[in-house]
Amino acid sequence: MEVIRTISEMQRISKQLKLEGKQIGYVATMGSFHEGHLNLMQNAKTENDIAITSIFINPLQFGPSEDYEKYPRDESKDIKQAEQAGIHYLFLPDVKEMYPVKSLIDMHIQGRTEVLCGKSRPGHFDGVITVLTKLFHIILPDRAYFGLKDAQQVAVVDALLNDLNFPIELIGVPTTREADGLAKSSRNIFLDNRERQEATWLYKSLQFGQELVVDGMNIPAIIEKEVHDYLSIHISGRVDYVELLSYPELKPIAKIEGTIILAVAVHFNQARLIDNILLTAKGEKINRLD
Ligand code: PAJ
Repeated sequence: MEVIRTISEMQRISKQLKLEGKQIGYVATMGSFHEGHLNLMQNAKTENDIAITSIFINPLQFGPSEDYEKYPRDESKDIKQAEQAGIHYLFLPDVKEMYPVKSLIDMHIQGRTEVLCGKSRPGHFDGVITVLTKLFHIILPDRAYFGLKDAQQVAVVDALLNDLNFPIELIGVPTTREADGLAKSSRNIFLDNRERQEATWLYKSLQFGQELVVDGMNIPAIIEKEVHDYLSIHISGRVDYVELLSYPELKPIAKIEGTIILAVAVHFNQARLIDNILLTAKGEKINRLD
């Protein structure tokens, strides 16, 4: 595996790979790898000639009161793990390399963001589409792999690729979970013992919601309320939201139809955790999007 730190070198390599007719699979990350990231890399490697991963903790997507400074960083461990995962190139630019001057162009996404995490994180997805536009131009991927753990991010990237005609195929990869169902996240390390136990109720509450859909309950507001009540009695943290929306449009719906997302977010003391499931109108789970 080669570690590349400059845009010019990465772009030179990507262009050369394209000239050779190689298919590039790409995984964008902010590092601190866990099995969720490694599984995305595995998918990118299996389905393409070349697998490229980037690690860049993007300041633009963190709000003023968010955890940019304390976001976990472990570069040498990440490099080893990416190498073991069989990644061919690891792109590791620093902030000055990615944002040498204040950009003259501001990107703003006006849909799919007024709900779920977008509601409490103004500007977050503008930062995500900005950095991804740059990274896509640097890496030149044929396929980009994103985790469905962050399903709103997948919906936003879907809009970015469609609206701006990026010739990139978007793959939404199933959420990797701990044995007890907790979605793997770099932020789980901020949970104390009690919160770690309670955190299993995020996924259990989603499964409870799924059962309601399977049983024929088709009024989203009722499902949201039932799931909210079920979740809040089991945790000491504060439920940020329980939302059931159409997917990928992320619009409120009056009744269950088409593909839907049921998503939850909880504030614990030192971490905000999210989880979601994608379902058909009959309540069947949708695992992968491609
Ligand atoms: P990061 O949080 O590092 O996540 C990188 C990728 O890993 C994302 O696509 C995310 O959805 C995926 N991922 C995280 N936990 C996962 C899990 N348990 N199962 C499956 N996939 C999981 O998301 C970002 O970085 C940034 O916003 C980024 C896209 C890199 C732009 O800066």
